[in-house]
Amino acid sequence: MTAGIDLIHFATSDYELGLDTFAKEKNLDVNKFFDGIGQEKMSIAPPDEDIVTLAAKAVSPILNKIDKQTITAVLFATESSVDQSKSAGAFLHGLLGLPNKCRVVEFKQACYAGTAALQMAISLVHSNPKENILVIAADIARYEQGSSGEATQGCGAVAMLIKQNPRIMIIEQGSGYYTEDVADFWRPNYLNTALVDGKYSTKTYLNSLKYAWDNFVEETGKQFDDINNFCYHIPFSRMTEKAHKTLIKKANKIISVKTFNQQTLPGQIYNRVVGNSYCAALFISFCSFLDNDKHNLEKNRFGFFSYGSGCVAEFFTGVIQTGYQDFIMKDSHLQQINNRQALSYDEYVDLYYKQKIDGANIVFAKNNKGKYRLEKIENNIRKYEIN
Ligand code: HMG
Repeated sequence: MTAGIDLIHFATSDYELGLDTFAKEKNLDVNKFFDGIGQEKMSIAPPDEDIVTLAAKAVSPILNKIDKQTITAVLFATESSVDQSKSAGAFLHGLLGLPNKCRVVEFKQACYAGTAALQMAISLVHSNPKENILVIAADIARYEQGSSGEATQGCGAVAMLIKQNPRIMIIEQGSGYYTEDVADFWRPNYLNTALVDGKYSTKTYLNSLKYAWDNFVEETGKQFDDINNFCYHIPFSRMTEKAHKTLIKKANKIISVKTFNQQTLPGQIYNRVVGNSYCAALFISFCSFLDNDKHNLEKNRFGFFSYGSGCVAEFFTGVIQTGYQDFIMKDSHLQQINNRQALSYDEYVDLYYKQKIDGANIVFAKNNKGKYRLEKIENNIRKYEIN
């Protein structure tokens, strides 16, 4: 029996801020963003869009293709939690009318948590092939205005149906891990924006990659040449280039620019215009690869490097299944990305930084154009609505 990704779909918000607009406002050379960090746009979530509504948007096309009564668990990975006790998955469970005979839990370890949820789901399916699990990775990346991270914000949610004999990708057994207690990026409980030591975070990311790779080779016996395509956690797309160069050096390889691009470029197309989506970023990169690679990827082995600040990292692999092309949801991905409304810098500041959530009752202005929105917070209870 095999276990893996049967269906995958991602969602993002209805608004975007171009980094050209951003550069003009800050009086900076736009090439710092387009070339230096490899980002063109960031998806911006208005106050009535949160990780629950993004997740609902990501999951709903999957539920349209299956009997939702068969879902046995919702594993929700995020670092943009909406409550300290109740999991985002519990709100989602209500909003989507999922069956009561179902387990729901939230996972947290910065951007790594999506991989933790995925691996937990894979193990559950191996121990009970009747499990049909929704793994969701959803985040809204927020940094303080004027900080080094401001240009690397964004948002997104990825939903994956994890089951036996999957139609898109088998997740292989055997991973490489690395954990070290570091202060590269964190968000204390009283803040809704992350704190970051930007340059140090890129160093800890690359350092973790080297250790996770060593552990992966030791555990699985697989080598660089056994892997066809690579997806990395993408805080900004230039990080993929830095990471792949680091891995190639570590593996003592020399490859052509053409091969380098074939191995990594299709996996950056969506992230380049969505921005960082923390837990979701690695899996948006996978959607980007599936939708945009011109080659037939059947039987290709993908290497995934998952990194979460703080820090925990994992390198793991999966193999694409024959006929995967019939199950990808490219049209929906492109429609969402292309239909976003462009914001001016002042409109972005209004949507992103002005709304305070401090215990008072709030009825949110209607900015979220999707089917699911956060309508209000009443007596400290979040109320969602379906349009
Ligand atoms: P910065 O200091 O504003 O930028 O912030 P810089 O001066 O280092 O420039 C960036 C690059 O652009 C440099 O290239 C410049 O040379 C180049 P590099 O040295 O890297 O090759 N550049 C230009 N290129 C062309 N034309 C120009 C130009 N000017 C400069 N005119 C930094 C960069 C990444 C620090 C910042 O964006 C930041 O703090 N980001 C947030 C943290 C982050 O994303 N870290 C990544 C690793 S940690 C991670 O991935 C985990 C995370 O997702 C969180 C989680 O786990 O939950 C963040």
